[in-house]
Amino acid sequence: MGICQGKLPETPKPLNCELREKLRSPIIVFVIGGPGSGKGLHCARLATKYNFYHMAVGELLREEAKKATSSSSKIIKDIMLRGALVPAGFVMDLLTDTMLRTENAKGFFIDGFPRGIRQARLFEEVVGRPPNIVIVFDCSTETMIQRLLLRSHTGTRADDHERIIRQRLETHYTLSEPVLTYYLQKSLLRNVLGEEPSEIIFAKCCSVVDDVLKGHSVQD
Ligand code: AP5
Repeated sequence: MGICQGKLPETPKPLNCELREKLRSPIIVFVIGGPGSGKGLHCARLATKYNFYHMAVGELLREEAKKATSSSSKIIKDIMLRGALVPAGFVMDLLTDTMLRTENAKGFFIDGFPRGIRQARLFEEVVGRPPNIVIVFDCSTETMIQRLLLRSHTGTRADDHERIIRQRLETHYTLSEPVLTYYLQKSLLRNVLGEEPSEIIFAKCCSVVDDVLKGHSVQD
């Protein structure tokens, strides 16, 4: 992945026609929502059920941040601990590189992407197509904070500290509205109430994915 003068790239690498063609047929489901809204938990279950690949962008970035040899690792870690966003070019390259490395994927649940309208537009520019559907988890701020504070006791995530949680929420609220409008206008947005018990949320997500699969097989 290219690094620009000690910084992370803002602009993604273009993909040639052959690479774009590889990303034409898999089903692509974007799963978005605030921090703690349940994206990760449900994408993991959905990926198992549908035999799709679960691509958690935050997780991919945490792996990059751990690479001692990578000059970008410290920059990524610092950004994540500020609850801010990693530059869009770097995220797009990471996303497309990972998708292209996944041989014969039937589909992808892309968890935590896009964050901001620029990422939504860049995806279409680079990949040459929109996602098949976008699931958004609607969740109250109080619930999201409570869940993340609860998870903070496990020590699994360095960014689960109240100050950083609030910054992650602020980043989310600042950037998410135009993304929702964008996909609503394209009739690609499906809202799921993330406050409900996990079984109900899972069933609602499955019904969204089943509809996409039905439409996909009709096209085939
Ligand atoms: P990321 O790792 O994606 O974190 P996040 O968006 O802050 O979300 P979380 O993973 O904390 O929550 P979640 O919605 O997945 O909920 P979960 O299922 O885990 O991103 C981290 C950072 O990476 C970002 O801040 C940014 O810096 C960077 N980044 C990521 N994507 C980027 C992008 N596209 N561009 C630029 N930078 C990017 O659930 C949370 C907890 O709640 C769990 O304990 C779970 O068990 C519980 N829970 C979930 N649902 C329920 C339920 N229904 N009932 C009860 N408990 C529940």
